[in-house]
Amino acid sequence: MKETLLPYSTGRPHSKARSAARWMFCVAAVFLLMTWSYVAPNHQTAFSISKKDKFKKCSINAYQATGLKFLDTAERPPVDEYVLRRNNLAKALAIEGVDAFAVEPGYTFSYYANITQPQWEVWEPEERPFVMIIRPAKLADGSVIANTSFLVPHFEKTRARLLDMPFEEEIHTVTYEEHWNYYTTLYESEIWGETLSPTLMVDEEMRDFIQRGFAANGFTVVGLGGEVEAVRQIKTERELGILRAVNTGTVEAIRAMRQCLYAGVTENEVAEVLDDTMRAAGMDPFFDIVEFGKSAALPHGGYDGSRKLEPGMFVLIDVGAHLYGYSSDVCRTFYPPFVSNPPPPGYNVTEQLRIWKVVLDAQNAAVKAMVPNGTAAAVDIAAREIITAAGYEKEFTHRLGHGIGIKAHESPYLNKGNFGAILRPGMVFTAEPGVYVLNDFGVRHEDILVVKENGEAENISGGFARSPWEP
Ligand SMILES: *[C@@H]1O[C@H](CO)[C@@H](O)[C@H](O)[C@H]1NC(C)=O
Ligand SMILES: *[C@@H]1O[C@H](CO)[C@@H](O)[C@H](O)[C@H]1NC(C)=O
Ligand SMILES: *[C@@H]1O[C@H](CO)[C@@H](O)[C@H](O)[C@H]1NC(C)=O
Ligand SMILES: *[C@@H]1O[C@H](CO)[C@@H](O)[C@H](O)[C@H]1NC(C)=O
Ligand SMILES: *[C@@H]1O[C@H](CO)[C@@H](O)[C@H](O)[C@H]1NC(C)=O
Repeated sequence: MKETLLPYSTGRPHSKARSAARWMFCVAAVFLLMTWSYVAPNHQTAFSISKKDKFKKCSINAYQATGLKFLDTAERPPVDEYVLRRNNLAKALAIEGVDAFAVEPGYTFSYYANITQPQWEVWEPEERPFVMIIRPAKLADGSVIANTSFLVPHFEKTRARLLDMPFEEEIHTVTYEEHWNYYTTLYESEIWGETLSPTLMVDEEMRDFIQRGFAANGFTVVGLGGEVEAVRQIKTERELGILRAVNTGTVEAIRAMRQCLYAGVTENEVAEVLDDTMRAAGMDPFFDIVEFGKSAALPHGGYDGSRKLEPGMFVLIDVGAHLYGYSSDVCRTFYPPFVSNPPPPGYNVTEQLRIWKVVLDAQNAAVKAMVPNGTAAAVDIAAREIITAAGYEKEFTHRLGHGIGIKAHESPYLNKGNFGAILRPGMVFTAEPGVYVLNDFGVRHEDILVVKENGEAENISGGFARSPWEP
């Protein structure tokens, strides 16, 4: 544009305006260039959504589209649930003929009084005992209820009360000073009434030095067992509701995430997205094993998670999350959605597909053997026979399953030697047969089953897998 064409171009004042405009243009250009050079190397993330973000969005959307209805059976256990558990314990103590049960903060303590070890000992496990003592009290009508006391350092008495443990009555403490023998303090306390030398059953989580302290100061100490151990093994209705919700929710998260898988995604990326998917339902993932192809020949992982997903690879996912303190633990083995059913002949997956079905048959055999009054061993053996008949006896390298509740792994354990454990209604187990061929592939299906009053066990993890395309 020529100066002379501007109607009000009148020499000098106008040129001044022009040079100011040029100057401003230059500053703006330099600023834009600097901004661009700063963001350019990251322009994937700065200006477009990365593939992993799209994957995550797709997975969470698919999960939320289920309506998350599986959460409906879960509620946080209220105070009366803990009262019920302690009363069940008291009845078991009466049957076993022991005077009291003793437990330190940990899983069992949280089962009966909602306090975990780190909630009491924030820094590190304390050498000063803080012990919950639950005694059976016989009422006039003959029924047995729990009467609970806490052995606690005197200076910690108020802190123990502030824990706000789930009791209807005020908590009762037996306190000791630092220079006292605290085992003797408990032995001589009024809680034993007419009993002269009490028998204490200690929980499996009770530290050795405290057990020996009790035993050296008048108590007869016996280990966890019998009806007392069975209390935590047999789940209440509320526990079953939470276990059903968290395990179904975990399977549903795998199913939702699967729909969004793409070639080239890594095992670690899948684990991250699956975890975020479960969090969208308020669940808290605590382990997540994702294995493609030959990674899955190691049942608990071991490679670094960097393997990329390729057509023809099985995806094996074994994952657990917490809801209201209860664990899920499920496993699925499947093909991503971009692999056709049946897969193209070039994929060499005939044997994988056969084994997928064999492992499912083994799981179904376990369900049929999981009956009241059966043994834990019989369930493992029923599943193992199917895999042995298919020629993979040596490739089923672990036990069939384990109890599950507030811990992912609880007693009783389903292994072929455990003839001593008798199944009872309300016990909850994993059934997780697997076949592992080193440097080739691995298959495992894991669901959660509850032993019923009659007949075979009921699955509470959203139904078994149907095919490698319908996990
Ligand atoms: C149990 O503990 C959890 C977490 O510490 C708390 O949110 C819940 O209210 C407690 N339950 C009862 C019945 O006190
Ligand atoms: C619980 O035990 C204490 C003694 O330590 C006793 O005073 C109290 O009456 C007992 N409560 C019940 C319900 O038995
Ligand atoms: C095909 O699969 C079988 C069984 O999984 C395996 O043993 C064999 O090595 C595979 N063949 C090729 C050419 O990869
Ligand atoms: C299991 O055994 C108990 C005790 O022996 C018995 O009462 C119960 O009827 C048995 N249940 C079944 C389903 O056989
Ligand atoms: C599992 O349970 C669901 C619903 O409770 C049921 O529809 C299904 O048939 C059961 N069995 C298997 C093998 O999934």
